[in-house]
Amino acid sequence: MCGATDGDVMKGFVEMDAGDAPKKMPLPVVVVSAGDGKRMNGMTAAWITQVSAEPPMIMVAIRKSRYTWEIMKDTELFGISVLGAGQKKIAEIFGTMSGMDTDKFGEAGVEPVMAGDVPLIPGSISAFVCRKGDVFEEGDHLAVFGDVIKAWAGDDSRPLMWYDWSIKE
Ligand SMILES: Cc1cc2nc3c(=O)[nH]c(=O)nc-3n(C[C@H](O)[C@H](O)[C@H](O)COP(=O)(O)O)c2cc1C
Repeated sequence: MCGATDGDVMKGFVEMDAGDAPKKMPLPVVVVSAGDGKRMNGMTAAWITQVSAEPPMIMVAIRKSRYTWEIMKDTELFGISVLGAGQKKIAEIFGTMSGMDTDKFGEAGVEPVMAGDVPLIPGSISAFVCRKGDVFEEGDHLAVFGDVIKAWAGDDSRPLMWYDWSIKE
């Protein structure tokens, strides 16, 4: 017989709540950013992945309530800065405060590198500018697709990782 069915003992596994699945899935830590010339903001995101090599395309899951989305929904472009070891504080600030009422760049002591109107985080492992594509509402997040149209390699450090509901250096 091949495959396990309900009631089988899954050797080596302990069943967990399906909602805890992302807890046991290592993910990168990035800052998704946007600017419209008048406002700019960024937020930490871990629910991000590459979805196509040719053309290079990524997808990031964003809750509609994020201030970053408030800006991003009307802009053509958005930024991704991939954070490395040494940028944990930035990940925490951009991931716990809202640009609705806080200048997170000031709070984190970060002078953004501007790619046009899109702010990027200096000292990151890499940074991309993406052209916003399809947006699908899936469950409680928006799946936002983006074509990577510009990419830069940056600091050669170990990537931060989101695992077990915490940021690992
Ligand atoms: C490590 C980490 C990963 C996160 N990943 C996401 C994510 O993938 N999508 C999302 O919508 N929010 C995510 N968040 C939460 C947002 O970063 C957070 O709500 C932020 O304050 C939103 O900022 P804004 O209102 O300025 O856009 C994450 C937070 C942390 C700390």
